[in-house]
Amino acid sequence: MASIVELLLLLLLVFAVWIGSLKAQSLAPLVADDAIFRSSDGSSCPSPDPSLYHRPVIGILTHPGDGANGRLSNATNASNIPASYVKFVESAGARVIPIIYNEPEDLIIQKLKLVNGVLFTGGWVKTGLYYDVANKIFEIVLAKNDAGDHFPLFAICLGFELLSMFISQNPDICERFYGEDRASTLQFGISETSGTLFERFPPDLLTKMSSECLAMQNHMFGISPKRLRENRALSNFFKILTTTADANNDDYISTAQAYNYPVTAFQWHPEKNAFEWGTDKIPHTEDAVRVTQHTANYFISEARKSSTRPDPVKLLSHLIYNYKPTYGGYAGKGYDEVYIFT
Ligand SMILES: *[C@@H]1O[C@H](CO)[C@@H](O)[C@H](O)[C@H]1NC(C)=O
Ligand SMILES: *[C@@H]1O[C@H](CO)[C@@H](O)[C@H](O)[C@H]1NC(C)=O
Repeated sequence: MASIVELLLLLLLVFAVWIGSLKAQSLAPLVADDAIFRSSDGSSCPSPDPSLYHRPVIGILTHPGDGANGRLSNATNASNIPASYVKFVESAGARVIPIIYNEPEDLIIQKLKLVNGVLFTGGWVKTGLYYDVANKIFEIVLAKNDAGDHFPLFAICLGFELLSMFISQNPDICERFYGEDRASTLQFGISETSGTLFERFPPDLLTKMSSECLAMQNHMFGISPKRLRENRALSNFFKILTTTADANNDDYISTAQAYNYPVTAFQWHPEKNAFEWGTDKIPHTEDAVRVTQHTANYFISEARKSSTRPDPVKLLSHLIYNYKPTYGGYAGKGYDEVYIFT
């Protein structure tokens, strides 16, 4: 009996040694490579800067309508976010929560506690509920910053016009400009870019932005440097970073940044160069796309400084991933993809 057990054990042992030698053979080069990697880099990966938040989320306020003059939806309570703004934010390493302007106010307040920054898109509505909700969100952004959270706001095109109206408390503050459907240069009014949107733009790109048409414009209103200087509230709030001449050669402020808040305002469209194709005026050169990328990187680098740490589970049902964009580009104009909320 014992000898049979011994024989079986011996067979098992031989088999195990054989399998082991096969494994050793196949693993041998890997082990050697691993040793080489370890000898050239003995440490493990350093952990990312703990003072920054590396899972930032941005709230984007929806704008009334379907974003396509009724071609996509005629629902009276429809609102939209052009997908280019979502891609702009996502491309720099953040996720998006849509803040639907006509949803209950307590839900909007709840969402603002789950984000690390806010973006106001372009559009045209300057009255009613949309205006009031944007104004309220702007006040919350300022209050969060006053309370010590670094909470950035990017206000693009209409967003800039709305901020000018909120800050000056004058609904007629904006002036008529002829900036529809044209690419332009940005003329820098600052000698020092540190502490601004442009601080980490490569010098060659800054030079090109002032001499090549890399900034897409599409607006009928704006603020002249003169009007800003004449309005105490506006001139105390905003520093002019760049100006641009419209089709009549009149200068408007194309980029402004708050002195005391991480609030950046654009009359131009940094999101379009990489993500919108509805007009042939939008610049798509490599340099134009770099403008989109560096602008998005700046925004999200600001959001990473926010001390808000959203509950990772509460976040999920609010994320833009719960919605699908609609392709609206067949019309050959307007936005290519739009998220529509009804
Ligand atoms: C919305 O209404 C307009 C005008 O009646 C119509 O041409 C369009 O097809 C409608 N849009 C949709 C998505 O049904
Ligand atoms: C829009 O109207 C529909 C139908 O009445 C309703 O189910 C939906 O909740 C409304 N959406 C918003 C955002 O108000």
